[in-house]
Amino acid sequence: MIIYIKDNYNEVCALAADLIELQIKHKPSSILGLATGASPVGVYDALIEKHKQGMSFKHVTTFNLDEYVGISGDHKNSYKYFMQTNLFDHIDIHYDKTHIPCGMAIPAKEECKRYDDSISAKGGIDLQLLGLGQNGHIGFNEPNLEFANGTHLVALDDSTKSANSKYFAVDEHVPSQAITMGIKTIMKAKKILLIATGSSKAEAVKGMIEGNISPKLPASVLQLHQDVVVILDQEAASQLKSKY
Ligand code: GLP
Repeated sequence: MIIYIKDNYNEVCALAADLIELQIKHKPSSILGLATGASPVGVYDALIEKHKQGMSFKHVTTFNLDEYVGISGDHKNSYKYFMQTNLFDHIDIHYDKTHIPCGMAIPAKEECKRYDDSISAKGGIDLQLLGLGQNGHIGFNEPNLEFANGTHLVALDDSTKSANSKYFAVDEHVPSQAITMGIKTIMKAKKILLIATGSSKAEAVKGMIEGNISPKLPASVLQLHQDVVVILDQEAASQLKSKY
């Protein structure tokens, strides 16, 4: 695990975007795994800036980590809508090369299998971008799930629902289930790039980097991956014991 500690969120995002740019320069037809949540928004802004300066995503394929169950892709809180408005609408990527699990698919189990199969058919993910949940989740892999899961249906923890409820109107139902790439799917990515900022992530960051590898803190599994870069700001790194 390579760990960078930057001064603030903007610097974290700039470095993450630089690493994604390097990946695409190295392999223009890269398969990128993408994430949602507040953390990657600054990374996407930096990538949009790079696109304005000439960087092309024409040959890139993307697979997103997860999607809520029960809301359609045009719902403003769907992760499909998030990706369109925060990234895809502003770059030259081909929409048919962007993939997000379908939260309306019935049965969801078949959608999960279809999703894993289509990642494999493309040759696997070259670089997977991740955020980090306050309880240590990655994608929507909540604590105490098996590491052996491929893409699967999950029930969201109350803490995750409450963290994500800020995006929903007061009278709106916050989904309680999601389809997410499993830990097994994520660990198959050739490179992993995780960003975490702010003091609310400090405890999860400490567990991920210095704790025991355990499903109790899903991100701790990343200690077993051969090629992980973690980019933190000072606050997210504040509980680490060692100097990095
Ligand atoms: C959600 C997403 C995760 C994301 C996490 C943290 O639960 N499924 O992929 O990493 O939120 O989000 P944020 O970056 O907003 O803190």
